[in-house]
Amino acid sequence: MATKQQRLCVNQADGEAGYARNSAVQSVTQNWMKPAIEEAVIGLLNSKSTDVPNSMVIADLGCSAGPNALALVSTAVDAVLHHHHAAKHDQGALEVRVLLNDLPDNDFNDVAKRLVSFQQSAQSPGLLLTAGIVPGSFYKRLFPSNFLDLVVSSNSLHWISEVPEELKSNMIHLYDEDEGLRRERRPLVIQAYREQFRKDLTLFLKLRAQELVPGGRMVVSMLGTRDYLCITPWDIAVIPLNDMASRGLISREMLDSFYVPMYGPSDSELREIIQDEGSFVINEIWVHKLEKTLFPPNAMARFMRAVYEPMMVQHFGLSSDAMDEFVTTLEQQLTPGSPYHDYHVGDRVFVSASLTRRF
Ligand SMILES: C[S@@+](CC[C@H](N)C(=O)[O-])C[C@H]1O[C@@H](n2cnc3c(N)ncnc32)[C@H](O)[C@@H]1O
Repeated sequence: MATKQQRLCVNQADGEAGYARNSAVQSVTQNWMKPAIEEAVIGLLNSKSTDVPNSMVIADLGCSAGPNALALVSTAVDAVLHHHHAAKHDQGALEVRVLLNDLPDNDFNDVAKRLVSFQQSAQSPGLLLTAGIVPGSFYKRLFPSNFLDLVVSSNSLHWISEVPEELKSNMIHLYDEDEGLRRERRPLVIQAYREQFRKDLTLFLKLRAQELVPGGRMVVSMLGTRDYLCITPWDIAVIPLNDMASRGLISREMLDSFYVPMYGPSDSELREIIQDEGSFVINEIWVHKLEKTLFPPNAMARFMRAVYEPMMVQHFGLSSDAMDEFVTTLEQQLTPGSPYHDYHVGDRVFVSASLTRRF
């Protein structure tokens, strides 16, 4: 019997629980990428021939919907305009094409409307700005060969292509109720995820290397962990669910078969995978720590709902009231004084990389 495909997308609704209103954390992490995107654009413009017209193709992979969907491409287009005008004002028309990608379930209607307003607001003499939407998995080919100049991606590459099969087939749960068993199995769980992430990222790099022009640039950022802590992205979702299972609000059996297809690497893991794959020169890899004070427990819990709700509703069949209970439980667990407080947000980091496709 074919297994049902896991629903991978964020909450589409533009209402209270939607991603559009609960993505401030990601927006902060996108701001951290600005200097690297600007640097990449300047590098590209300086390396382009002076032939008229100049052109640049920019793609955001895993754009989602809401205000964040266009934030990275808009940083890139601003930088193109600023530096093109400064350096090559007499070189004729500039053609920029922005392409936005996500999985087919994404709210592309929202993205399309935002793209049109973006094109209008970015209008500038001598600029032809065209746009396109590219649905599909970034673990497959999305663009023609030697086509892209710049790839950007924020908060998406920690979504792996699938849950490690050996965990499911050996019935190794993400979170055992029994603490002894949980401690004993955690290294196995983490190792299985680590290997899946390595496989996926290696494939991602190979595909993008085919689609980028030689010397093309890539700036990506994702949820990560510190080497010594191995806090995983799923802890924050599964610990409140465990509490709900203990109170009989969801079935323990269903929780045992719930797996989240996400893995956050450390910066050294990221570096090693990129080096081993070999298609890219690493310009920089950096780590940002998320300041707890920026995100009070309630905001963090609502943001987790926006990210996990589709997956949880599909798996547990949770009602909107049950999702409210998830938010309340998580909020309590994130509050200082709770035994889970540090475990949840203690050292949550984002790892980023600026890369150049080898010639
Ligand atoms: C948390 S959102 C990040 C959105 C936005 N880039 C931001 O920083 O706010 C992660 C997005 O990655 C998308 N995603 C996950 N796996 C993907 C894949 N294999 N291919 C394309 N998009 C994917 C999800 O659908 C989701 O919209």
